[in-house]
Amino acid sequence: MTRVLFRAGTILLALGAIAGCRGPGAQLPADAPMQPIAFYHSVHAGQNEIPCMYCHYNADRSTSAGVPSVQLCVGCHVPGSVVTPPAQATLAFPSAERDSLWNAEALELVGYWQRQEAIPWVRIHNLPAHVQFPHMSHVRVGLQCQTCHGPVEEMEEVYQFSSLQMGWCISCHRGELPLSDTEQTTVRERSSFVRELVTLASEGENLGGFEGTYPDQIASTDCLVCHY
Ligand code: HEC
Ligand code: HEC
Ligand code: HEC
Ligand code: HEC
Ligand code: HEC
Repeated sequence: MTRVLFRAGTILLALGAIAGCRGPGAQLPADAPMQPIAFYHSVHAGQNEIPCMYCHYNADRSTSAGVPSVQLCVGCHVPGSVVTPPAQATLAFPSAERDSLWNAEALELVGYWQRQEAIPWVRIHNLPAHVQFPHMSHVRVGLQCQTCHGPVEEMEEVYQFSSLQMGWCISCHRGELPLSDTEQTTVRERSSFVRELVTLASEGENLGGFEGTYPDQIASTDCLVCHY
């Protein structure tokens, strides 16, 4: 076990220089792709304070956070959507007076529901197939969505806030990325990596130079944790 914890340490030393919150290669708001409906996070998660997990409800229990189905959207936007046949669906809000652009976009949503079609959202984040990123491991230790995705509740259109490069992952796993005080506390309590180190130390195991090299490390940097 100890060997597994140590293996990657030295090889990755050179990557240590790549730090910073977002990392090189992070994108700008203008990089947000065109979506089939102008769905604004700033209106939903911002002004209306709908929690991220209301729509991305798989984030704490699955590898993918997931994007909500049309059914979840019409649960708010179409009155009686559970009992009314989709063909007769009407838009509850925004009302036509609210704002013609918002109204037109929301009518698009009703169209997808009437035709019982999925909305073909354009995917923004895309790690290569040889990397695995389990959302649940990160959400359950108390990391906030915004630490990795930025101030989504202020974004009209979501863009890729962090670089998603290996150096970015590694710098956080080593404890070199700034976290809020609350995150620091929960991560230190809940990380299985940290707990394992504490257990090994209490059993009198020789932890070598490991702790000295990365005293704030919070997660494994073993290649096989992230790569298949
Ligand atoms: C009302 C439902 C809803 C809420 C609330 C919501 N989202 Fe989303 N989210 C979506 C939909 C739909 C998409 C796909 C369309 C898009 O990219 O805008 C999406 C896309 C995303 C993406 C990009 C996914 C990709 O393609 O890579 C991220 C990241 C994201 N949301 C994070 C958040 C965060 C963080 C919050 C809370 C601050 C949040 N969302 C709140 C519905 C929601
Ligand atoms: C530790 C960083 C981190 C945290 C915390 C995090 N994400 Fe992500 N998120 C990522 C990465 C990396 C990807 C790209 C994954 C891929 O391409 O396989 C991603 C992808 C997504 C996507 C794209 C689609 C999908 O199904 O994965 C959505 C939506 C999303 N995140 C929402 C959220 C929400 C909501 C939260 C908070 C509840 C959250 N994320 C917390 C790093 C994070
Ligand atoms: C929890 C309730 C809720 C859910 C779920 C929800 N919305 Fe909304 N939506 C709102 C509210 C509230 C507004 C603001 C209406 C206003 O201010 O008049 C809004 C506004 C909108 C607008 C106009 C503003 C904008 O963002 O362009 C569109 C389009 C829209 N929603 C589409 C969607 C889609 C697509 C989904 C599913 C991914 C969805 N909504 C899910 C509550 C919801
Ligand atoms: C903001 C900090 C942060 C970032 C950024 C981050 N991680 Fe993590 N990661 C953690 C923490 C904390 C854990 C929990 C470690 C534990 O419980 O042992 C974790 C756990 C994991 C695990 C599960 C490890 C296990 O033993 O179950 C994998 C796999 C992983 N991360 C991959 C990635 C990848 C790939 C990226 C970049 C795309 C990434 N992480 C970015 C903090 C981060
Ligand atoms: C915390 C997660 C994580 C760990 C640990 C990790 N990697 Fe990666 N690695 C990634 C991510 C994410 C990418 C894809 C993004 C990129 O290319 O920077 C990647 C990409 C790569 C690539 C492809 C680079 C390219 O240009 O296509 C190689 C090779 C690689 N990693 C080797 C390793 C080796 C060897 C180790 C162990 C010493 C390791 N990785 C440990 C997350 C990780």
